[in-house]
Amino acid sequence: MRTQVAIIGAGPAGMFLAHLLRREGIEAVVIERHDRPYVEGRVRAGVLEQITVDLMRKLDIAARLDKEGLVHTGTNLSLDGELFHIDIAGLTGGASVTVYGQQEVMKDLFAASSQRSISIVWNVKDVILHDVSSSAPYVTWTAGGAEQRLACDYIAGCDGYHGVSRASIPANVLRNFERVYPFGWLGILADVPPAEQELVYANHARGFALASMRSPTRSRYYIQCSLDEKIEDWPDDRFWDEVCIRLGPAVTAKVVRGPSFEKSIAPLRSFVSEPMRWGCLFLAGDAAHIVPPTGAKGMNLAVSDVMMLTEALVHYYRSGSTVGIDGYSARALARIWKAERFSWWFTSITHRFPDMDGFARRLQMAELDYIRNSEAAQRTLAENYVGLPMQTAGHE
Ligand code: APR
Ligand code: PHB
Repeated sequence: MRTQVAIIGAGPAGMFLAHLLRREGIEAVVIERHDRPYVEGRVRAGVLEQITVDLMRKLDIAARLDKEGLVHTGTNLSLDGELFHIDIAGLTGGASVTVYGQQEVMKDLFAASSQRSISIVWNVKDVILHDVSSSAPYVTWTAGGAEQRLACDYIAGCDGYHGVSRASIPANVLRNFERVYPFGWLGILADVPPAEQELVYANHARGFALASMRSPTRSRYYIQCSLDEKIEDWPDDRFWDEVCIRLGPAVTAKVVRGPSFEKSIAPLRSFVSEPMRWGCLFLAGDAAHIVPPTGAKGMNLAVSDVMMLTEALVHYYRSGSTVGIDGYSARALARIWKAERFSWWFTSITHRFPDMDGFARRLQMAELDYIRNSEAAQRTLAENYVGLPMQTAGHE
């Protein structure tokens, strides 16, 4: 088998890339370790930046998003139970975010990929990337006990944090930058109407809480928890009691409780691996970087990576010039680091850190009080929340 671009991983990065390349007439094959129900079933964040919404429209996969997505022109912060509103649209000249679950995005990507004959090979095992620093790379894997081989011009490593792609770059080339947070998020999904029309990010002395949603009838709530917490110790009643304390009385008055149908704990991490290109291999999405979920940047960053990668590949296939390809890593990292900074900062001002003394806590409270009272501070938050622009490519 031969193709132009071998895409490793059918998560958001791999699937958006497959659609973008297809639209430009560049051949690609996606190879995925799991099956489609598994990838569609993973519960992740659900806040889309305008670039992601625009891309779904450009790819003609936004019919459901346009019908069911909830456009949010503002968000709420809460400090020890006192709520204040951030008018995102007013502060950014009309920008907004759209609440639409990543699972729904994946369903839309897969439904359209079947219609457009995008090739996806599911359930692959033992994926190995070969001769990545040569001009004739290829990928092998086993499926049904037989070895398969895919020759290509380029490989897009879209296989997430635990994938093989990043591991295929020599250790003396890669530089990893990391912060591991001393807590996780315990999240639930429940078929109850959301408490507020917009999200509530709450800093409480007992820890962070977030009131989010998927639809007018489905809510998503999170609380900060310690990393050794066990799901079994969090029956629904205990979860609802705790989230309500942290969200405060005004929000609690509107919280509708109900049985959860999903409950999980996720650790928080900031991670960036540089460079994002080695020979014929490009990294995109979680394969190269992780953000903590505060701010919901994960999928949006995967989207901006693959938009930039597509521009670079299109430039190469149209002109023969590698200028775009050579600039991909630096261009992508410029946007990634700003999102890393924002996600780290938003996490730092909203969570309770185990080693926090009175001084640190008072600084946190002063910062939130400053945001409450300063339009300049609110604008900074708002422009980062809706997503910063992409730098133009060097070849434009
Ligand atoms: N071979 C093939 N596929 C692989 C391999 C491998 N060796 N290793 C991992 N994969 C697949 C995974 O099964 C997964 O479907 O690659 C995909 C990677 O998807 P994500 O982890 O979702 O990463 P990405 O596409 O970069 O999306 C980033 O989406 O899932 C969220 O938290 C994530 O918000 C972030 C965003
Ligand atoms: C979610 O709804 O899952 C969500 C929303 C906002 C975040 C993170 C997660 O910042």
